[in-house]
Amino acid sequence: MKQEIVEEIKGIVGKDGYSTDIADLYVYGFDASIHHKTPDIVVRPTTTEQVSAIVTLANRTLTPIVPRGAGTAMCGHAVPLKGGIVLDLTAMNKITEMRVEDLYCVAEPGVIYDQLNGELSKRGFWFPTTPGSAEACTIGGMVATNASGMRAIKYGATRDYVLGLEVVLPTGEIIHTGTRTLKNSSGYQLDRLMVGSEGTLGVITSVTLRFAVKPEASAMTIAAFNSLVDAGRCVSNIIAKPLLPSAIELMDSVTIKAVNKCMNVGLPDCEAICMIEVDGHPAAVEDEMKIVEEIARKSGAFSTEASADKKKINEWTQARKAILPSLSRYGENYVSVALADDMSVPISKIPEAVGAFQRIAEENGVIVGTYGHAADGNLHTKMLVEPHSEESWKAGERAVGQIYDKVLELGGTVTGEHGVAITKAPYMQKERADSLDAMKAIKKALDPNGIMNPGKIFDWEGSIISHLRYPAFCDDRCGGCQKS
Ligand code: LAC
Ligand code: ZN
Repeated sequence: MKQEIVEEIKGIVGKDGYSTDIADLYVYGFDASIHHKTPDIVVRPTTTEQVSAIVTLANRTLTPIVPRGAGTAMCGHAVPLKGGIVLDLTAMNKITEMRVEDLYCVAEPGVIYDQLNGELSKRGFWFPTTPGSAEACTIGGMVATNASGMRAIKYGATRDYVLGLEVVLPTGEIIHTGTRTLKNSSGYQLDRLMVGSEGTLGVITSVTLRFAVKPEASAMTIAAFNSLVDAGRCVSNIIAKPLLPSAIELMDSVTIKAVNKCMNVGLPDCEAICMIEVDGHPAAVEDEMKIVEEIARKSGAFSTEASADKKKINEWTQARKAILPSLSRYGENYVSVALADDMSVPISKIPEAVGAFQRIAEENGVIVGTYGHAADGNLHTKMLVEPHSEESWKAGERAVGQIYDKVLELGGTVTGEHGVAITKAPYMQKERADSLDAMKAIKKALDPNGIMNPGKIFDWEGSIISHLRYPAFCDDRCGGCQKS
C-alpha cells in the first residue's frame, strides 16, 4: 500500500486508529473460516464520519475494503481476499438509544449480541435469534449475514428485527434506510437489501432493531433415539402437531461423543438426540412439554428427560454450544472445519437429508458431525479433516459438492444462517443461477469500482479449498496467498 494512503488514513483516524504492524495484519487475515489472507492495513474508526472518509478514500484510490465485526464468520466474510483495508468496527460499540415503550433500540455495529441482550433483559425484553457465537458476535456482522441460531423457528432471523440502518455506501455517501416505526411501506426496503449483503454493498454504521418480550418460563427435554432419521422425523411430527417449540437442536452420534468427551454433561450416548425447548407462560410450558415428550416417544425416542430448572437448561444449552470446539478434539489428527456448513431444508425433508449426509460421508471416507437447529430445517455438517493432508481436503470437497446437490434437490438452500462469502460461493451460484445477474447489476450500481469486499459471493471463481489458513497445504490454487 502506498505510503500516502497510509498517511491519509492516519489523518482521518489518528495514529492509534490504524495499524500496519505485521503481527496485527497477520491476525486480521483470519476469521472463523478455513481461509486466510493478510491485509495491507487495519483501520479502527470510531464514528460514521470517519467510516465515510475512509470509504471515500478507498473508492478514490481503488483500494479494496472489508468491514469486520468480531471475525466469527465461518465462510471467509472478513478475510481480505484482495488485500487492502480491513475496517474493524468493534470500537463503534455503543447502544445509542433504548426505547422499550416504542419496542426498538439503536446500536452501533460493534455492539456484541450478549451485551445487547444484557441491557434488554433488565427491561424484560430480548433479541431472541440466539446465534452460536452469542458471546462474541456483533450486531453489525449479524445484519451483514442475516445471522440466526437456535430460536429462529419461533422468533425468526436477524432480518425480522431490523427496522432501519445507517449505511456508508461504497462511494462514501451516508444513507438512512427504514424507519424507527414497526411498520413502513415507504419505498424500496433498502434495509432488506443490506441485510445479508456481506459487506459488499456498504458499511453498516448504525442498526435500529425491534425486539421481543422475554418469555416468563421455559422447559427443555432431551429425547434420545437409536436412529438419526427417527430423530429427524420427530422434528416434523412436533411442528405438524401443530406445536411451536422455541428450539429443537438435533445432535448425531459424532457430535454427542465429541461433547461428552470434552464436557461432563453425560448426554445419552446414542445415535441421535433432540434437545427440545418450549417457552412462554408457565402453565402453557408445562402442557406443551407433556405433548412434546409424547410425540418424541411416538416418533421412536427410547428416553426423554425434561427439566424446567434454569441451571439444567443452561447446562444442556452450553453442551450444545460446545459442539464446534469439541469436534476439534474428536480425534488427534483432525480439525473440525466449516465445510458444507449450514444448509437449510424444508422441515419434513430433514430425515432424508441427514440420511443422505451419513451416506455421503461414508462413501467419501470423511467424518461428518451432523447437528443443527432442526426445528427450522437448518443443519450443520462440520467435517473433520486432517489439515495437512491434501487427500483429506479433496475428500471433504467432494463430499461438500454431493451434500449440496442433495440439499438443492430437496428444495433447500446452501446456507441458512452463516452466509456465502468464499466457502459457499460455487454452490450458492448454482442455487441462485437465475438471479446472479440481478445481484451483479445491484452491486455494479452501488459499488461501480468494486472496492467493497471484492472476490466473494458471485465474484468468486474456482475451488473453495484455497486461500487456506493451513500453510502446509498452500498450493497453486492459493496463488501463493500464505506467502504474501
Ligand atoms: C452453531 C453455529 C456453527 O450453531 O452456527 O454452532
Ligand atoms: Zn448454527
